[in-house]
Amino acid sequence: MATARSCSRPHRLVGYFEEEAVLSYTLYLAEIDAGRTPNPPAPAIAMRYWRLADDATLADMVRAVRDDEAQHRDLNHGLASALAGPAHPGARPG
Ligand SMILES: [Fe+2]
Repeated sequence: MATARSCSRPHRLVGYFEEEAVLSYTLYLAEIDAGRTPNPPAPAIAMRYWRLADDATLADMVRAVRDDEAQHRDLNHGLASALAGPAHPGARPG
């Protein structure tokens, strides 16, 4: 049980990093949406990787990246919770 809990901690830490990434991309989008940051066409490599529309912009690309980071966040927190086992009152996050 102690080993499973210690294995959960790296996933929990990465989950927190991914949360920060989602927040950072959200703030970046707010800057683009407010017109304080240019919103040029998305780079071709990004359009291929995220299968963006032909008229995709930087904002569309940032949304796709943020969606990926949100999936990473959920995956890592889910793994951390599964490895930590059932919660009990007063338990610290695994
Ligand atoms: Fe990530």
